[in-house]
Amino acid sequence: VQNWRGLIEGYRRYLPVTDKTPVITLHEGNTPLIPAPAIAAQIGRQVKVFVKYDGLNPTGSFKDRGMTMAISKAKEAGAEAVICASTGNTSAAAAAYARRGGMRAFVLIPDGYVALGKLAQALLYGAEVLAIHGNFDRALEIVREMSQNYPVTLVNSLNPYRLEGQKTAAFEVVDVLGDAPDWLCIPVGNAGNISAYWMGFCQYHQEGRCTRLPKMMGFQAAGSAPLISGHIISHPETIATAIRIGNPANWQKALAVQESSQGEFNAVTDEEILDAYRLLASGEGIFCEPASAASVAGLLKVKDRVPTGATVVCVLTGNGLKDPDTAIKHSQNQFKQGISPDLEAVAKAMGF
Ligand code: F0G
Repeated sequence: VQNWRGLIEGYRRYLPVTDKTPVITLHEGNTPLIPAPAIAAQIGRQVKVFVKYDGLNPTGSFKDRGMTMAISKAKEAGAEAVICASTGNTSAAAAAYARRGGMRAFVLIPDGYVALGKLAQALLYGAEVLAIHGNFDRALEIVREMSQNYPVTLVNSLNPYRLEGQKTAAFEVVDVLGDAPDWLCIPVGNAGNISAYWMGFCQYHQEGRCTRLPKMMGFQAAGSAPLISGHIISHPETIATAIRIGNPANWQKALAVQESSQGEFNAVTDEEILDAYRLLASGEGIFCEPASAASVAGLLKVKDRVPTGATVVCVLTGNGLKDPDTAIKHSQNQFKQGISPDLEAVAKAMGF
């Protein structure tokens, strides 16, 4: 797309905006759909695998898609402050867009469980960051109540404009492939994004822009998999802190998506997530954060059931730079340190 000016301009006719809506944008969206031959090779059977690299959005995650809409609509309604609970990415996006729109941004985060890059972003963008001694689910309960009792607009995915913005990722996938994929693999936390993708595919299908609808394959981290176990997890755990969620805000929507798309939900272990995370980086040259790698870990877990010749899209929701600690700790690559600064020593260390 030439002269891309963000997803509200790009998909205006599919979004609930008018001439009066102030468009607060960082030119998010229009992210690449990249072939992933190393992942495809692990499946075989002429399967085509692509990754939707949404970590290339302005704040490094898919949350920017929802936030340009939520913040523009909050501004239109005259809001002066927004609030969210977050495992990190929502807070970074809320902070960036709210500040760009001249609003205050309050963010509640679980103390000690937000990746370093995300915290750095929220602070530098100028959010008012409150770390609570509690997990994401508790933070969400608090901000829901705050937004009902104080003059602050909730910008978590319970805000319907968030999903409206996020559905544009499905439009982009169809615009590039020429049709919907057979499978859409996606990490699931609060289940906002899987619901938004499904909305997007359905809307495009109704408009005749695609001939089919994908099977929606949602993957949760094994220690935080309420949708697979069927009950709330009071103490969710996983290395993928972005999806360390035990009581998804969009639980009912997620079940509806699973049913209407004949999709499946499954859990992937932290080990499987880390294997996919390393494969994406060293096999494809794509650095995503651990939660995002759950989509690829999930695909590899159920690879025997991918139909021959199928087209599969895995959503990579966040950039790897968000969480440098995990990358350094779990890289299996040897890091040769303390080499003396001379040619001979360097050549020797290189194995020559
Ligand atoms: N991937 C990443 C990188 C995320 O940050 C999130 C959610 C998800 C996947 C799951 O998306 O909740 O729509 O199912 N992050 C939220 C946050 C919770 O606060 O940044 P979902």
